[in-house]
Parts: sequence; structure tokens; C-alpha cells
Amino acid sequence: MTTERMVRYVAPDNASTPVINLKAVTKEYIKPTGEIHTVLQDINLQIGKGEFCSIVGPSGCGKSTTLNLIAGFEAPTAGKIQIGGTLLQGINPSAACVFQTDNTFPWKTVIDNVSLGLRLHGMKKSEAYEQARHWIERVGLKGFENHYPSRLSGGMRKRVALAQCLIMQPEILLMDESFSALDVHTRSVMENELLSIWEETSASVVFITHDLEEAIALSDRVIVMTAGPAATIKGDYRIDLERPRNVAEIRFDPEFLKLHQQIWNDLRDEVMTSYAQLH
Ligand SMILES: Nc1ncnc2c1ncn2[C@@H]1O[C@H](COP(=O)(O)OP(=O)(O)OP(=O)(O)O)[C@@H](O)[C@H]1O
Ligand SMILES: [Mg+2]
Repeated sequence: MTTERMVRYVAPDNASTPVINLKAVTKEYIKPTGEIHTVLQDINLQIGKGEFCSIVGPSGCGKSTTLNLIAGFEAPTAGKIQIGGTLLQGINPSAACVFQTDNTFPWKTVIDNVSLGLRLHGMKKSEAYEQARHWIERVGLKGFENHYPSRLSGGMRKRVALAQCLIMQPEILLMDESFSALDVHTRSVMENELLSIWEETSASVVFITHDLEEAIALSDRVIVMTAGPAATIKGDYRIDLERPRNVAEIRFDPEFLKLHQQIWNDLRDEVMTSYAQLH
């Protein structure tokens, strides 16, 4: 670390009880041959309330696995995960997920998709619809309440997926390559909208991306993972660029460029290691 801004991350004061706390987490899978495949090795990661944290790393290093562990879709082989200080066992009730592929139901209209989570929690249809209308408007889809996802563009379906999550007012928003499939302009609009919505909430975000620029533009903190197997955390960078940010413009900020160069130096070595393993 050569400049002041590039110090390793120092947890903020409010992180004394982190919202997400991975303690010495290891994840192994058993291969069909019976061999053990260690994906993650001894991961320690604390994420505070309201923190926007991105994870970058070479393809296959274990980013989605990390997210799945935080979501409670899978359990660690060793170590533990605490959510708000409580041991996570089973599905994480504080988290909502937005994946790369759409998680909308094609046979339901926008309003039925968005209100579904509240309805499953037993809310009356009229109340759930009222809240859904608010979130549909908030993600810029007013007027499309009765459309089916097939009649929407990819960007619009992504907005539906976001509204589906946000309506539940999750403490933790987990996003796995959520904007990767969007064209560059739609993506930049969605990134800005995500930031403006997130700034109004106290949600902690874990955002997985292949795109280091996207990670820096959005985040308070960027985590670099090593190439697998047995991936671990290589770098933990604080991004204290001013907010509110315009993601399209911040990429030209000299501080942004310095951060990019610094983090890329770390990431590039891991990408090369990963690439060498494949060839
Ligand atoms: N259910 C599973 N059973 C066996 N191995 C798995 C399982 N899920 C993931 N893996 C292995 O774990 C490793 C990490 O996968 P993961 O999907 O977490 O990587 P990633 O960093 O998200 O990759 P990408 O950037 O390509 O999305 C890979 O080697 C993968 O084959
Ligand atoms: Mg992945």
C-alpha cells in the first residue's frame, strides 16, 4: 500500500457486531472420484451494517460459493457464519438474492412477482399490492404492473428482480453478477439506481462481479480472492471515494484510477495463476 487511500480495510466502529461474520470458513466438496476438493480455505470476513462490499476474483475461485454460504443455501465444512451475532443454521432469513439469471416467474405479472414475497409471508393481497406498487415505481417500472416478464427487456426484468428483493426490506442484499448480462448503458443506469436506493436503506450489500471497475465504482470495500483451489482473501481495500457517486463518471476520477491500478495488481496475479491452471 503506497497511498493513504489504499490502506487495508479498517472496520468502522459500528462493526463491533458485524451483520455478516465468516469465521475461519472452509468449504469442501467431494468429487465423483471421492477426492476432496477444497474450494474455500479459512475465510475470515466481517461486513458491517450498511456496508457495500464487492468480491472479485478469478473465475471458479469460489465467489458464488461464498455468497451461497452467506445465503445459507449451503453450510461450511468448517468454521462458522454469524448473522447479526447469531449462528447461521439453514437459510438466512435476513438476506435476499439477485442472481445473474432472472428470478422472475414468467407466468406471473410484474405486480404478482413483486408482491409474492409479502404474500408468502401471509400479507393480504391489497396491502401487498400497495407496497408492490411503491417498489415498482421506485425501480422505474410504473405503468408496467400488469405486464408479464416476457414482454419486458432484460434491464426491466432485472428491475423486477430488484423490486422483488427490496420489498422485503432485507438487512442483507446478495448480488451475484447481477448486472453482467446487461448492455453497458443499461448496466450503468441500473448501477446508479441501485446506489441511490441502497443509500436510502441500511442494507449491507455483498456484490459479486468479474468487473473490477464496477466493484470500485459501487463499493465501500473491495475484497480480492485468490485463485482456487483453497481460495482465501488476498486483499481487502477500502474505497472512500465521495458519495453520492455517478458510476459512469467516477471512473475518470484520479483516485479511482489509482485504486484500480493498485487492486488490479493484486487481482491480475490471481487471474494469471487461475489461467495457468487451465492450460
Ligand atoms: N455443488 C458443487 N459441487 C461440487 N463442486 C462445486 C459445487 N459448487 C461449486 N463447486 C466448485 O467450487 C469451485 C468454485 O465455484 P464458484 O461457482 O463458487 O466459483 P466462482 O468464483 O463463482 O466462479 P465464476 O466467476 O465462474 O462464477 C469450482 O471449482 C466449482 O466447480
Ligand atoms: Mg460465480
